[in-house]
Amino acid sequence: MAKRWVAASWGSFEGWQFVEYEAPAPLSGEITVRVRAAGMNPADRKHVAAPRAGAELPVPIGYEISGEITAIGPDTAIGSGAARIGDEVIAFRVRGGYATELTIPAEKAFAKPALLTHAAAANLLLAGTTAAEMLVVTRAQAGETILLHGASGAVGVSVLQQAARRGIRVIGTARAARFDEVRRFGGIPIAYGEGLLDRARDAAGVEIAAALDAVGTDEAVDVSLELVADRDRIVTIAAAGRARAEGFRWIVGSAPESARFRDSIRGELVNLAARGMLEVPVARTYPLAEAVEATRHLAEEHPGGKLALIP
Ligand SMILES: NC(=O)c1ccc[n+]([C@@H]2O[C@H](COP(=O)([O-])OP(=O)(O)OC[C@H]3O[C@@H](n4cnc5c(N)ncnc54)[C@H](OP(=O)(O)O)[C@@H]3O)[C@@H](O)[C@H]2O)c1
Repeated sequence: MAKRWVAASWGSFEGWQFVEYEAPAPLSGEITVRVRAAGMNPADRKHVAAPRAGAELPVPIGYEISGEITAIGPDTAIGSGAARIGDEVIAFRVRGGYATELTIPAEKAFAKPALLTHAAAANLLLAGTTAAEMLVVTRAQAGETILLHGASGAVGVSVLQQAARRGIRVIGTARAARFDEVRRFGGIPIAYGEGLLDRARDAAGVEIAAALDAVGTDEAVDVSLELVADRDRIVTIAAAGRARAEGFRWIVGSAPESARFRDSIRGELVNLAARGMLEVPVARTYPLAEAVEATRHLAEEHPGGKLALIP
């Protein structure tokens, strides 16, 4: 029998249950995947913390996985083309990735980049597609200097790598212990906290063309608004209220146009990772049964890299 994590009630962890269930045999257009690693993102927890329109309890938790195909529906190809039983794949966006086995729409699966471990591969696409959309909506261009809040985070390091490939110079905020990581991916690190505005100006030395916020604090928003006059070139993924109130961009994967863009970019990101051009730093893994403990670690907001659950 397969097992998976579900939220049986809204709220923090009281309602989380690790339950047996049966992954259905795949129909045409579906595959079944034996999960080798479940990627972890802040959204996994946030999306079961309070009632959400259209979601009914119990809610299976987790949005991305890496594993191998154990069954394929009739006449079925995956997102990256033909596939066979035993092939290693990653999949995003799935429903209920914190599982030992999962039946999913086949178009969500892509051949796993061989250079990535399952733990890294399972964490490639939610952060990667978000990072890509942040760069696109702010129209960041080669030769420009941009400010990135949260450069050491999962979304942040993906923005750094994708920006470096396009010749965009990035000033990125992080705590001092993470400066080397920001440099490793081509960013210029500065500390967040008191005096951020001046540090950003000094580090840039030129006009900052756009501001990308993967943190959502008032400090991050205030500094972005101070430095970038064109509010269409400021984006946040974590301060929706201020974006609505002050007229700058907020993007979220559940919005139809964001979902379309993020789906469209998955194959390109998988190819980059397959060629060693997109890394996913992993801080640590936890056994799948310890999902609550792992989620508490992630919620501290300084995980120092991605976390993954291993069935
Ligand atoms: N809207 C969307 O589509 C979308 C998609 C993905 C993620 N998100 C949201 O975006 C945020 C980042 O996600 P993630 O996966 O990148 O998280 P993460 O890996 O946990 O990274 C958190 C980042 O925030 C920084 N940070 C923590 N406290 C801070 C503070 N007080 N001031 C400034 N920076 C601080 C951390 O820096 P240090 O560790 O160096 O201190 C780190 O860079 C989360 O809120 C997540 O829910 C939204």
